[in-house]
Amino acid sequence: MAEYKYENVKVEIRDGLAWVILNRPEKRNAMSPALHYDMDDALARLETDPEAAVVIIRGAGGNFSAGQDLKKFFRELDTNPAEKKKAAEAANRWRWERIYNFRKPTIAMVEGYCVGGAFMQLLACDFAIAAEDATFSLSEVNWGILPGALVAKVVSDSVLPRHALYYACLGEAFDGHEAARIGMINFAVPKDRLEKAIEDLAEKLMKKSPEVLRATKQAMRHVRTMDFGQAYDYLAEKGKAIRANDKEDSYNTGLRQFLDEKGYKPTFEAFKRGTLIGGKATSDPK
Ligand code: COA
Repeated sequence: MAEYKYENVKVEIRDGLAWVILNRPEKRNAMSPALHYDMDDALARLETDPEAAVVIIRGAGGNFSAGQDLKKFFRELDTNPAEKKKAAEAANRWRWERIYNFRKPTIAMVEGYCVGGAFMQLLACDFAIAAEDATFSLSEVNWGILPGALVAKVVSDSVLPRHALYYACLGEAFDGHEAARIGMINFAVPKDRLEKAIEDLAEKLMKKSPEVLRATKQAMRHVRTMDFGQAYDYLAEKGKAIRANDKEDSYNTGLRQFLDEKGYKPTFEAFKRGTLIGGKATSDPK
């Protein structure tokens, strides 16, 4: 198993689930430049780590993240443009490009505070589940900056304009239920059930063919900005790419299990993996 040793990030891999933990609990996991460098490296490595099937982003000590570190990321870097550029590039890369395009499913697990810059990784993840009593806040307006990097953009893309404007302009805190109501997360659960809810979701994801799941999430993301003609074309070609790359031949296996073996109902569940006929069968969930 690969070793992940960082000062500001912990990585724990168990049964295919990679828990990536922002680890500055005494600062409510505020994100310093050093934390950004650690996260950028950890995620790059996890993307090709065969032990990691699903990546979960969370924070240590009961908080997701209090956003960018106001001292180390803002005040201290204001007089160091070279380091500021480097830190901002790493911060944006892992919080958006890496997670958004990640080849494996990603889940944000939110408890405690999720503030400001932390909305980037929250919304980059494919899924987000929060504790009912989590506290979300777009606090930027309360201390004189915009919801910068891509925060304003990804919030605007995720929720209806009225909700986006309300919370960005008021900087008012809201809880897990409200985050679910406005579409910022999938759902909220009591805090003592949060970890189990994350594990259950990850288990369901690991039952799908990784190739089909990857193509599905990429397709769902990319078609949003395409017109109808582009979407028809892209989806047809993407479908062919799945057939070419899918080592489990999910299409024929699924049809066989439903039509011939009458072994499952696709409406409710995934086909049984590891039963490929005439090829190398695999039960490897990655
Ligand atoms: N940047 C730097 N330091 C931060 C921080 C941040 N975003 N958020 C918390 N901290 C630090 C505090 O300065 C404090 O440090 P200290 O112990 O050296 O004094 C420590 O973390 C604990 O914070 P504290 O405010 O005492 O904890 P709390 O539980 O009472 O409140 C928050 C937590 C998150 C509500 C509060 O710290 C806060 O509002 N932070 C700012 C969040 C923010 O606006 N982030 C947007 C950045 S884009």
